[in-house]
This record gives sequence, structure tokens and C-alpha cells, in this order.
Amino acid sequence: MTIVDRDLLDTVLQPVAGARGLPNQFYVDAETFEEEKRRVFFANWAAIGFAKDIPETADARPIDFLGQPLLAVRDRQGQVRVFQNTCRHRGMILVDQPARLRGMIRCKYHSWCYALTGELRSTPHVGGPGNNLHAAIDRASLGLVEVRSHVWRDVIFVNISGDAPDFETHAGDLNGRWKEFDKPIYHGGPDSSFRLEVRTNWKLAVENYCESYHLPWVHPGLNSYSRLEDHYHIIEPGRFSGQGTTVYNPSLGDGSRVFSNFDGLSEKWDTAAEYIAFFPNLLFGVHRDHVYAILLEPTGLETTVEHVEIYYADEAMTGPDYADLRAENARLWKGIFVEDIGVVEGMQKGRHGICFDGGRFSPVMDEPTHTFHHWVASQFAATG
Ligand code: FES
Ligand SMILES: [Fe+2]
Repeated sequence: MTIVDRDLLDTVLQPVAGARGLPNQFYVDAETFEEEKRRVFFANWAAIGFAKDIPETADARPIDFLGQPLLAVRDRQGQVRVFQNTCRHRGMILVDQPARLRGMIRCKYHSWCYALTGELRSTPHVGGPGNNLHAAIDRASLGLVEVRSHVWRDVIFVNISGDAPDFETHAGDLNGRWKEFDKPIYHGGPDSSFRLEVRTNWKLAVENYCESYHLPWVHPGLNSYSRLEDHYHIIEPGRFSGQGTTVYNPSLGDGSRVFSNFDGLSEKWDTAAEYIAFFPNLLFGVHRDHVYAILLEPTGLETTVEHVEIYYADEAMTGPDYADLRAENARLWKGIFVEDIGVVEGMQKGRHGICFDGGRFSPVMDEPTHTFHHWVASQFAATG
């Protein structure tokens, strides 16, 4: 049973010209937010962090994902694993800050130790002083609870419910669209990483990101060289939506140095760049010489943290020779994302107006936004 009125969902599920947007309760109602956690975030593949933040074996990072305590660890095979960050003994939180572990995940409370792959390895004095075994404590069945996870373009995704289609299926259409970018990427380092705290529901950040309609008014600087008519829509119902530009033409520094491009790109990418919201909470941009991820972390019903990470096509771009260009590129993007804050926070305020009916969509300009609303409404319309 969903707590959203079926008739209201049906108004969102109409074709774009006649549809209304998601009603206010999706932005301001705590109960709907609880239901959204389950239906939208836990039932699907959601982005929770970055593999670059646990670069070495035994690096561990606790992640609070919508109240769920998770632990991302890199094991000895170099694989990222995600566990519930809860000890199987008395439920103590296992790792409470980023750390390089000493080979094991050790609980601070009674010192039960788990391998980096989750198996319970030692249980000191569990059978009484000096006796580390007891027949009732079956180590083989008391390993850490592992959460289904997958790393895509350095982004760690999890499926908490465990029953979403496999990640390759989920990302198949996007991988197809961007197969030319299926190449190693190199994070630019501290100068290529920043976060923005925004007083808005996470969905409004998605909605604003996937459309170009607002460019002339919200981004006049960007619009001076990348105009409304230079953009096209990207629509993949049920998966992602966004927009692309046909006039990407970076100019950084004095122009004497440029970032290396990804190898083997087709001509389209000489001037194209694409910006896609991969439902629910990853915003991603690709350009011939860099990509970026914006992970939307809903820290509450009306607060969101945007984690922005910029990656380059060639490891040489991450060294000191390019530090000035990287910093300038990060500054440019930050400037643009900061310009968006006023409108995403303003839409959040507007949704407290009890007479607002979800609003309407321009059938021409707002189709990517409606594609996202349609997907969210579908998650609530589904049985279960
Ligand atoms: S709660 Fe972890 S060892 Fe006791
Ligand atoms: Fe914008």
C-alpha cells in the first residue's frame, strides 16, 4: 500500500503535455519521505560514495545512507565491498570514521574480528576467559551482512533490498549511450573535489539538473556561449534523463595547455557534452577531456549535500603541471552549480504553498524533468 493517493500519481503518469508534477507531499511530508527511502532508494541501485576514497587494501569508510549505517571496505583483491556497519554480537557500530584498518574489521566493544571479506574470524573469550570458541556461536553464520554493491565510473552503488535487477541491466542503456567513455578515469585530487550543502529536497536538484530551459536566466554567463538552442534532450524512460550541448569548447588558462582527451572518441564529442541524471541520485557529466559526478546525498527531507568529483582522461592530468587548470575547471563548475542553489532552494520554499498542485511541464522544454517525475511516481504506483 502506498501512502500517496492513486489519482494524484495518475496525474503525474500522464503524457507530458497533460501531466502535473509530483505533489507537495513528495517534498515536505516526512511520512512520504520514509516511503520514498524504501521504494526509491532501497529498492533500486542508489549512489552512496566513491571508490577513490578507499584507494588501498583495508581502507574503510563508514557511510550513513538515509539512516542506514554502511561500511565500504577495499578487500585484499582490490574489490570494494559494502557491509552493514553493525557487529553481529551486540550490534555495536563497527567503524565510525574513515580509517586504514589493520587487516581486520575489529569491533571495539568485545573485539570480535571480521575479515575484509566479512567472515567472522575471532571471538575472544566467547566461551569464558581463555576460551575463544563456544558451540552456540557458529562463526560461519555470523559474518558481516554484505550489501549488494557495484562500482560504476568510480561511483559506489548499492541495492539495499537485494532484489533489483543486476547492475549491468540497470545501467545497460546508459553504458550503451556512453560506451565511448568506458575507459579508465583519474580523479584530479583535492582540487577537484567539493561539496555544496543545499536546503532542498534531493529531487529538486535532479529536476533542475536534467533540463536546460533555465539556462538564459540562471546561468547568463554560460548561456553567452552555450545557448538554449545549442542543447538537446536526453530521455530514457525508467532509467535516466538529461540534456546535451553541441558547443562544448573549453578554454582554460592562457590556452597554451589543454587537458588530454579520452582516446578514440568519435567526432560528435569534439563539441558535444552530455549531462544526465541517472535515477535516483547520481548526476553525471561527460566531455571529451573530463567527466564529473555529483552524488546527491539526501541528509533529510529538505536538505541535500551535493558531492562533486571531477575526473580526467589521462593520469598525467592529475599531476602538479596541471594543478592550475584543474583548479580553474573546478572553479568554473562550482560557479555554475552555485548559481543553481537559489532556484532549487526557492522551489523547495514554493512547495510549502498548500495550493500548489504539482505544477505543469512545457511539453517542449520539460520532458526530461517529466521523465524523472514519471519514474518516481512509478515507484510509488508499483505494488509492494
Ligand atoms: S558488540 Fe561487537 S564484539 Fe560485542
Ligand atoms: Fe543549472
